[in-house]
This record gives sequence, C-alpha cells and structure tokens, in this order.
Amino acid sequence: MNLSTTTILIIKTIVLRFLFSPATAQASSCSIKEFPVVRNISELPQDDYELGGLSHITIAGSLMHGMKEIEIWLHTYSPGAHTPIHRHSCEEVFVVLKGSGTLFLASSMHEKYPGKPQEFHIFPNSTFYIPVNDAHQVWNTNDHEDLQVLVIISQPPIRAFVYEDWFMPHAAAKLAFPIPWDARCLEAPFKYEL
Ligand SMILES: *[C@@H]1O[C@H](CO)[C@@H](O)[C@H](O)[C@H]1NC(C)=O
Ligand SMILES: *[C@@H]1O[C@H](CO)[C@@H](O)[C@H](O)[C@H]1NC(C)=O
Repeated sequence: MNLSTTTILIIKTIVLRFLFSPATAQASSCSIKEFPVVRNISELPQDDYELGGLSHITIAGSLMHGMKEIEIWLHTYSPGAHTPIHRHSCEEVFVVLKGSGTLFLASSMHEKYPGKPQEFHIFPNSTFYIPVNDAHQVWNTNDHEDLQVLVIISQPPIRAFVYEDWFMPHAAAKLAFPIPWDARCLEAPFKYEL
C-alpha cells in the first residue's frame, strides 16, 4: 500500500472527524415524520461530512428515522478513500454494488493490539461481514472507479473504536460516538426511545 501524503491526510481527516464531530442539528433530515414507506434513493440527503472521499446516505437509520434493530447506509468511496481502522460490537454486513477494493481485517482479539491484518479483495456483487469486535478497514484501492457499498449494521446507533494504526493497543482505541451523520440528529426533535 502506497501511503502517499494525500492518503495520510485522508486518514487524519477521517479520524479527527470521527473523534471531534460537531453536534450540529439538522432537524429536517432527522425525523420519523419524513420516513415514507417508499423513497427514491436518488433523492435522499447525501453528504461527505467533510470526510474527504466518502459520500454517505443513511438509507434507514436509528437516530435519523427511528429504526430499532438495524441501520443501513449507502457509502461511496472515491479512489484512494477509506474508513479509519476501527472495531465495534455490532454485526456488520457489506454488499458491494460497484467498484472494487480491499478489506483489511485483523481477526484476533486475543492480542493486545489488532496486528497485521489479512487482506481480502472485494469486487462487484461480492458481500462480506465483519466479525463482532474485529478491527477492520475498507479501502477503495481501485484508482479508476468509485467503490459503492451497502452497509447493514445491528444495534444502532453505532459506537466505534478507532485505531491510529494496526499496532495501537485495543485499550487505547478512541471511542467515536456519535459518528458524524448521527451527530447531526442528536438535537433533532425525534427522540430515540429504548
Ligand atoms: C428518482 O429520483 C431521480 C433523481 O431525482 C429521478 O431522476 C428519478 O426519475 C426518480 N425515480 C422515480 C421512479 O421517481
Ligand atoms: C449479483 O448476483 C446475483 C446472483 O447471481 C445476480 O442475480 C445479480 O444479477 C448480480 N448482480 C450484479 C450487479 O451483477
């Protein structure tokens, strides 16, 4: 993996954004009242949340729409863009709609840190899941095409722990909550009820 200055900048931006996202409320897109049965994905709010290279749509969300058990996102990563290295205790399934890339997955939680990850090639119409609490990172390693994935998580809203690198101790990983798209809904009129 060629860690160019740009990619390092993207990592830093994403990590910083995950950690210090402003809780600015945008009530209009965070309301169960605006959750019709059938919606046109092309018309759903889409934002890069200043994450540099990621375009996010919450298709069905907990804080955004009142979902209780699952949440679904549509993520589009431009060439070179990627998630931070992170883990979470919810289940997560990806469906690759377009493009290709690499899943980095460190499967052992027995060590004190994730360690060198396994690499998996992901391709159009592939699907993959992230075992609970395994540190992982999804990277658009295709220089020519966007990577578009549908992401399904359980137990929303997501609480992720972010690592600076694969050798950072699990205990030092930083809690990212709320993540940027959830932060916008925290002060919205709709309240999530347990
Ligand atoms: C969905 O939205 C797109 C973009 O506004 C529009 O071009 C398309 O016609 C819509 N589809 C339907 C079935 O309304
Ligand atoms: C994905 O695979 C399914 C099952 O074979 C197939 O029906 C579908 O057309 C495929 N989709 C794409 C975009 O290739």
